[in-house]
Amino acid sequence: MNRKKIVIDPITRIEGHLRVEIEIDENNIVQEAWVSGQLFRGIEIILKDRDPRDAGLLAGRICGVCTNSHFRAAVSSVEDAYSLELPKNAEIVRDLMAMALFIQDHVVHFYHLHLLDFVDITSALNADAKLTYKEAFRYSDEPFHNSYTHYEATLEKLSKFIKAGKLGPFSNAYWGHKAYKLTPSQNLILFSHYLEALKFQAEISKAVAIFGGKTPHPQSIVVGGVTSVSDILNPQRLNDYLFIIKKAKDFIDRAYLPDTKLLAIAYRDEIKAGVGRSCGNFMSVGGYEFEGEKKLFCDGIIYNHNFNTIEDFNELKISEEIDRAWYENESSQNNIKYTDLNKDGSLKTAKNDDKYSWIKAPRYDGNVMETGPLARVLISYTKENKLIKSFVNEFLEASNLEILDLSSSIGRNAARAIETSYICEYTFKLISRLIQNIKYYDTETWVKFNFNSLKKNAKGRAFLEVPRGTLSHFINIENKKIQNFSVIAPTTWNATPKNFDGIRGPYEAALIGLRITDPLKPLEILRVLHSFDPCLACAVHVINTNGKELSRYKI
Ligand code: NI
Repeated sequence: MNRKKIVIDPITRIEGHLRVEIEIDENNIVQEAWVSGQLFRGIEIILKDRDPRDAGLLAGRICGVCTNSHFRAAVSSVEDAYSLELPKNAEIVRDLMAMALFIQDHVVHFYHLHLLDFVDITSALNADAKLTYKEAFRYSDEPFHNSYTHYEATLEKLSKFIKAGKLGPFSNAYWGHKAYKLTPSQNLILFSHYLEALKFQAEISKAVAIFGGKTPHPQSIVVGGVTSVSDILNPQRLNDYLFIIKKAKDFIDRAYLPDTKLLAIAYRDEIKAGVGRSCGNFMSVGGYEFEGEKKLFCDGIIYNHNFNTIEDFNELKISEEIDRAWYENESSQNNIKYTDLNKDGSLKTAKNDDKYSWIKAPRYDGNVMETGPLARVLISYTKENKLIKSFVNEFLEASNLEILDLSSSIGRNAARAIETSYICEYTFKLISRLIQNIKYYDTETWVKFNFNSLKKNAKGRAFLEVPRGTLSHFINIENKKIQNFSVIAPTTWNATPKNFDGIRGPYEAALIGLRITDPLKPLEILRVLHSFDPCLACAVHVINTNGKELSRYKI
């Protein structure tokens, strides 16, 4: 068989540096794929020998996007090591920061990182404002900013922008590509929401900052509690937060959710054909407890799209391998095996048994796992989480789809939008609980402890569901210093390389069988990879859980 290789390096509109190599056959169908994390980070090395109380602020620097997630997970791992129990208000405030980040992250991903894979803005220029106004009612009873004048103004803005010749984020795109299916009106609706979402992301970031001090890199979480006490006790600040979430909910229900419905209807054939479907194994650690029993997300493991049997998550089943990652072995000191370049200095392509990524290979009971909003939605739905079930059913009914259809590129986006709407509802409950606690004089926000009298040696871990999926931090403290720190981020799971058994990671599996219309403009590949919301800055980590240094680097 005649196979051709396509390399995309870097994949843009993601966080970090991702390279993909694919082999296509004579019909342009993807037969093999190698996904590679190209950026070495090594923040864990910086954490070595530090005071455990500083772990949060340092680990937060792992990523410029997922800052709050790493900040909290690192602090929680220290609290776990010392068995510190937090007051309820501290948990609520940390959750409120997390929820605002979920909302911000998902909206930014959909509109600013992923949407232009589906929206041809040059086609939007041909739209008729009146027809667009009518079209919007197909996806919502009350479409967001839906007026003839609004679309006229958007068209004018767009044509001025194009005439000025400064395309900025819209330059070098595959405009006019055959895989773009939307009508001019549909393109205009989505493009107008793209612009609205720019304002949205500025507003919602304020909600994280209200309790975080700032964002990105909030700084109010400390071992034992939170420091934003004056904000928690100020009714105006609580009201500001609530107001932002209410406004966000309006945008999510009238723009974000309807826009994913629009895509689900327009790209129905692709969804039904399972375009972007991956390994079918899903993992969630669950979490965000409310009033002791109801959780925002259920934990669980689904294998091979079998929604009838669901296992409980067991952290002891997690392992990490390095067969195909650029590390030689986990036991010696100088064991880097970086094989990216040929002898002549050219870039080596991945094949056979080569090592081809900085990302290690986490496995659950030896299996590859997809993690993220789709995994959470499928697991919570299967486990009869009532609230999320109603959101999912409503979406499936409106777009005439089945639950398995969500396991696709567009389905991943639908799951993310459903989750965002559901999270807003949960956030309202959380903030009213906080207000109630304060009303009844429960104002505790931290637990008192004496660092000097704590154990010298301790081990801790934290498992959290964060916007992109399951995040785990492991800490080993010796003589009150961090002896080693290890992270498995959501993208480490989803962008994992193959292992000794040759089984493809979720990104790779989702690319197999994909038909590329034009190998010089591989838009379909971007659609599949972007649907996972990659964060490569988070994905590469180099100290194993036993504290052994895996490599030394000269810069
Ligand atoms: Ni990240």
